[in-house]
Amino acid sequence: TYLVIDACIRCKYQDCIEVCPVDCFYVGENMLVIHPDECIDCGVCEPECPVEAIIPDTAGDDDSDKWLEINRKFAEIWPNITRKGDPPDDADDYKDEEGKFSKYFS
Ligand code: SF4
Ligand code: F3S
Repeated sequence: TYLVIDACIRCKYQDCIEVCPVDCFYVGENMLVIHPDECIDCGVCEPECPVEAIIPDTAGDDDSDKWLEINRKFAEIWPNITRKGDPPDDADDYKDEEGKFSKYFS
């Protein structure tokens, strides 16, 4: 599967959504996630994200395991999204910020 990671938080550009052939993005207040059981690994969303917040789940390390868990958990809770909306007005203020997960994820 592919995963959305913390670079998405508060940027939420949404350029990834409409390219997905199986509509497996889910939306929270600050970020999107991918449903790992629905993603077909096509990879077309990865280059669409301007902040490189989409990664393949191939690292097999603790960090990718953490994001796999987060994507799975919240894809079950948050609503599906199939159409691009507007990013937050201040999205660009957050695009280079590190550590967004501990600061903003709730
Ligand atoms: Fe959708 Fe393909 Fe991205 Fe998976 S890799 S989320 S199927 S666009
Ligand atoms: Fe997030 Fe990038 Fe999509 S910022 S909403 S993963 S285009």
